Amino acid sequence: MSDVWIRDTLAIEAGAVAALNTRVFGSSAEAAIIDQLNADSDSLVSLVAHDDEQLVGHIQFFRILVDGRDIAAGLGPMSVRPSRQRKGVGHDLIRLGMSRVERAGRGLVFVLGHTDYYSRFGFSPDVGARYEAPWSGPAFMGIELTMTAPRSGGLTYPQAFSQPQ
Ligand SMILES: CC(C)(COP(=O)(O)OP(=O)(O)OC[C@H]1O[C@@H](n2cnc3c(N)ncnc32)[C@H](O)[C@@H]1OP(=O)(O)O)[C@@H](O)C(=O)NCCC(=O)NCCS
Repeated sequence: MSDVWIRDTLAIEAGAVAALNTRVFGSSAEAAIIDQLNADSDSLVSLVAHDDEQLVGHIQFFRILVDGRDIAAGLGPMSVRPSRQRKGVGHDLIRLGMSRVERAGRGLVFVLGHTDYYSRFGFSPDVGARYEAPWSGPAFMGIELTMTAPRSGGLTYPQAFSQPQ
């Protein structure tokens, strides 16, 4: 457990979330994706982590269609302020975010990212490889949260991921 509190992102925090992502990634591409997800109503869950002074982390989940059915979620971008990394903030954001996504009735979650990190949470490249997606390889991972989730299919990502950034 980290020493931060986590809650839903407020609309008035959009600028602070964009600034955090731009700082952590060294580019505004991730902030632009988050803006577009919100503009297109493709955001499912957005959480922020705060300490007593500032925003220290953010995680985004968005809708993914499986064979045209709106039943899955994608994780990303996520970011933790460099001075607060490796203290469990990312862990807490993922755990709470995943429970929220599951409660929202999504039985499948996909992520494109660091294999060694996300595999700690049960994400697997073997699961990702069963789906037709815009991405492939070990960085593309999936996790099944329910027994009834489809075992294969074609994934449709939100428009935010096909916009030139
Ligand atoms: C990835 C990130 C969100 C993790 O957040 P965090 O709060 O530092 O993570 P936690 O404290 O929960 O976990 C830290 C552990 O993850 C490991 N870890 C962090 N980044 C990692 C990476 N890129 N690859 C593999 N392991 C990683 C750390 O080594 C640490 O391991 P330890 O527990 O054995 O010391 C954060 O490092 C970050 O914002 N990175 C830059 C942006 C980024 O890469 N976002 C993810 C895009 S896929």
